[in-house]
Amino acid sequence: MIYLTRRERFNAAHRLFKKEWSDEKNFTVFGKCSNPNWHGHNYVLFITVKGEIDEETGFVINLKDLSKIVRAKIIDKVDHRNLNLDVDFMKGKITSAENIAIAIWEELEKDLVAIKCELHCIKLVETENNSIEYYGKNN
Ligand code: NI
Repeated sequence: MIYLTRRERFNAAHRLFKKEWSDEKNFTVFGKCSNPNWHGHNYVLFITVKGEIDEETGFVINLKDLSKIVRAKIIDKVDHRNLNLDVDFMKGKITSAENIAIAIWEELEKDLVAIKCELHCIKLVETENNSIEYYGKNN
């Protein structure tokens, strides 16, 4: 088994809030990320896949195929967008790094299976100091 990681970057706006809460309560729970007039992050996304090496190509996956899928399914939808308002797979969800990573996993999983590739980890870096890793719902 070998692991391969592709890095992608995107810039996006968001706000962490629950609409049934006051701005004050949202600020208490979510801090600056609950600013009512939005703010942005320069996100860095690491997609790690795993598999056996294809003897014909020497690859675990053709990076061109992986990057095409990630671009179409994720980056084109989130880059320079508002994660709360513009992104179909975040509709109705709190746009925390945790929820974004899980949603990205769910978006990519099926397409990767179709090219015989298994997702291992989605790592999302929101700030220099904060990042999260998701290994799928059974891990
Ligand atoms: Ni934020």
